[in-house]
Amino acid sequence: MIVAVDGFSSTGKSTVAKLIAVRVGLTYIDTGAMYRVVTLEVLRRGLIDEAGNVNEEKLNKCLSSMKISFKYNEEKKCYETYLNGENVESTIRSMDVANHVSSVAAIGFVREFLVAQQREMARNENVIMDGRDIGSVVFPNADVKFFMTASPKVRIDRRFKELKDKGVEVNYEEVKANIEKRDYIDSHREMSPLRQTADAVVIDNSYMTVEEEVEMMVKIIETKR
Ligand code: DC
Repeated sequence: MIVAVDGFSSTGKSTVAKLIAVRVGLTYIDTGAMYRVVTLEVLRRGLIDEAGNVNEEKLNKCLSSMKISFKYNEEKKCYETYLNGENVESTIRSMDVANHVSSVAAIGFVREFLVAQQREMARNENVIMDGRDIGSVVFPNADVKFFMTASPKVRIDRRFKELKDKGVEVNYEEVKANIEKRDYIDSHREMSPLRQTADAVVIDNSYMTVEEEVEMMVKIIETKR
C-alpha cells in the first residue's frame, strides 16, 4: 500500500504521517529530509552562491556518493536521517538549509536521483510518504492521496513555535519570508511543481487538532485496505 501526503510547507504533513504510520502499520518516509540532505552537502561543499545559484556540474559529480538512509532511534522513538552514516537529523532542520532547499529541489537531476530512491524504498514495503510531488510524480497510482493545506498565518505561527521550542534562534519575519519564498518556488518550478491532483483528498487543517486530522485520515485509509 502506498499513501501519498503532499502539501505546502509547515502544514503538519510529517506530524500526521508519522502518527498514521504507527496506527496503520506503514513505513514513514520523509522525502523533504532527502532534499534537505542534498542541500546540506551543497552548503558544506560551498556549491551555492549568495544569489542561490548552485554549481550544478560539481553537484552532479558528488551526488552518487551520497548515501541517504533513515534509522529508527529506539530512545527517541522516531526515525532519523543519515548521510553516509552520519546522523544529520537536527542539522538538516536549520534555517540555513531551509533557506536554500527550494533552489536545490528545483534541479532536475537532483529530483531524478531522489525519486528513483523513493520508488525503490516502496518496492517491498507499505509506505506513507510525505513531500510535494508524491501523488503527482513519484506514485501517480498511490492507493490514497492527501493534499494538506492551511492558511499562511497558521503555518508561519506553527513553524515559528516549532523552531523556538527546539531552541533555534529565529525571528518571526525570517520564518514568514522563508515560508512565502518556499511556497512560491515549490509551486512555480518547472519540474514537478507542487500540484493538487484531481484524485487527492484535500485536508485544510487550519482549525483542526492533530488528533481530529489523524482520525479522519486513518478512516479514509482503512476504506482502501
Ligand atoms: O517537507 P520539507 O519542508 O522538509 O521539504 C523541504 C523542501 O524540499 C521543500 O521546500 C520542497 C522540497 N521538496 C520537494 O521539492 N519535493 C518533495 N517530495 C519533498 C520536498
